[in-house]
Parts: sequence; structure tokens; C-alpha cells
Amino acid sequence: MSDIENIRDQILKLKKEKNAIIIAHNYQREEVQDIADHTGDSLELSRIASTEDCDVIVFCGVNFMAESASILSPDKTVLLPVMDACCPMADMITTIGPRNMNNKFPGFEYGEDRVYPADFTLQDIRDRHPGVPVVTYVNTTADVKAESDICCTSANAVKIVESLDTDKVICIPDKNLSAWIAKNTDKEVISWDGFCHVHERVRAEDVNNIKAEHPDALLIAHPECRMEVLEMADHVTSTSGMLRYAASSDAKEFIIGTETGLLYKLRKDNPDKTFYPLRKDMVCPNMKKTTLKTVLTCLEEMTNVIKVPEDIRVKAKESLDRMLDVT
Ligand code: 13P
Ligand code: SF4
Repeated sequence: MSDIENIRDQILKLKKEKNAIIIAHNYQREEVQDIADHTGDSLELSRIASTEDCDVIVFCGVNFMAESASILSPDKTVLLPVMDACCPMADMITTIGPRNMNNKFPGFEYGEDRVYPADFTLQDIRDRHPGVPVVTYVNTTADVKAESDICCTSANAVKIVESLDTDKVICIPDKNLSAWIAKNTDKEVISWDGFCHVHERVRAEDVNNIKAEHPDALLIAHPECRMEVLEMADHVTSTSGMLRYAASSDAKEFIIGTETGLLYKLRKDNPDKTFYPLRKDMVCPNMKKTTLKTVLTCLEEMTNVIKVPEDIRVKAKESLDRMLDVT
């Protein structure tokens, strides 16, 4: 038996013993997606986990996702295989002031004098725009969700903004998702300056290059990409939206404008279709920290428990519930 098979067997055995389920985000490593009971986008996974009859949820993803699982399943033990698997964009908005932003992103250009958006808190932006509701992308920490009016996902953001009865909204933390919302609504969108370094690095020039190689391919882009990329896309949607779109489209070739982990499931689900990454380096290093070994260790030792404090959990859940009521 190979090492990998051995680890996989041990995980499956422990999973049974502990009545656990394993859920993996669409960007996870192939072997981690393979061991998972469910793959999907972050909110979808947390919602599935909350309906499963299990005691333990192993969330293969980044920390805000495990927090969402804890918010929706307070009576289950949520484990995050790698404790420092974080989402740098989620950390760009805080309720407490600057986080440690020393962790610069590989392959991304920074001016030395850049002021990180996390130098300001959510309360600072509220103070500047009194009475304007805060619409918070699910890629945020639980404390930020708790201080928000309503949450949104990349798939339902426009609908959520349209559902509010004000002319102005504050959208946090992603400036690109906010620009996409602003393009698709008549409301005034006040944007935060956060971004995902994996999507932000893609330019129109990259689209031109790959389209020149594959002129018949449709471009599907995640709304975390820059507007110059989104304007060139045939379809803009979340990771799960991409899976649905590719499956139902008559087209045979697709350029995928999101983290390359999604290509694994796209190819598996659609063996007759061809998928190209928009850029080969659209890789989220935090998503790739989880390995089979880390899944095994956290299940063996029951370590890396993510538990959102009850006062924050209740408020964060209200923001998520308001979103679910709309959608
Ligand atoms: P989805 O919610 O579309 O899966 O996206 C999550 C994410 O981290 C995007 O970078
Ligand atoms: Fe965060 Fe971007 Fe990684 Fe998604 S791909 S988890 S938004 S850093």
C-alpha cells in the first residue's frame, strides 16, 4: 500500500470512529478534494455541514470558512487542518484595527508606502457614512460579519444590494466585487480597498494572450478579478456558479478566471470539455496548505478547533440569515 493510500485509510477509519465529515473548498488540492464528503464554495459547504448528522466537521479551506461552519453549527466541533490557513483579503477589514500584514503575497507588486486598508476599522467607515448599511462578503472574519447589516456571496451580491431600501450601500472588503456590484445596480456603492491577490494580479493583457491561444474558448471570471478582466468575460460568477455554467453550456472550451484548484472538478465533471487556467499562477498559497497529512493529524489529535464565541456567533448568524432570507 502506498503512503497516500495508507493516510487515506487512516483518515477514513478515524472519520467513522469520530462521526466526522470532511468538506473541502473548490480550491483545495486534488487529493484533499478526493477524500472529502462534499466539495463546494464556502457558504454552500457550511450550510451542508449544518444539515449533516455528524459530531465533527473537518473544514479543508481557510479560517473564515471554518468560522462560518462554526456559526451555523455551534453544537459540532469544527476543525481547520492548518491553523494559519488564512484569507489575506478577509484580514484587510477588521473591527479591532490593523492586523499583522507582514505576510506579503508572492508574485504581487507592492509600493513600500502602501497603506493597508486594515489600518482602518469597520467602525471608521461606518462613522464616515452614518446610516448607510454595510454589505459584507462572506470572505470576512466572524467579528466583521457580526458588525454588518447583511452578508453576501460572490453569486448573490447584486441581489442582496438591490434588496436594501437605501440609495447607498457600503460593500466590504473586496474593491473588485464592489465595482462589479456598482456596475450592475443603480445604487451608490461605497467600496473598501481590499482585494484578493490571486485574482487582482490578472490583467486584460493576460486575457488577450490566452484568448489568442484559444480563440473559441469562453472566459468565465470570478468577480474578485479586476473590472478590465470582468468586462472581457462571457460570464462572471462564483466558483459553484462556474461549475454550473460549464456543465450546462454548449461550448466545448473554457478559460477559467479563478484559482486553479477549480479546474480539477471542472475536468472531472465535464470529460468532453477542455478547461484552461486564465493564468497558471492563480494559486492561493493558503488554500494549498492543507494536505492529507494535516487532515489526518487534526482528526487524530482533535486539534485546531475553530469555535466562534457565542456573542459574536449570534450576531454574525443574524447577518448571514438576513442574506439567506433574501436569496
Ligand atoms: P467562492 O465563494 O466563489 O467559492 O470564492 C471563495 C474565494 O475564496 C474566492 O477567492
Ligand atoms: Fe482569500 Fe483569494 Fe485565497 Fe480566496 S483565493 S481564500 S479570496 S486569498
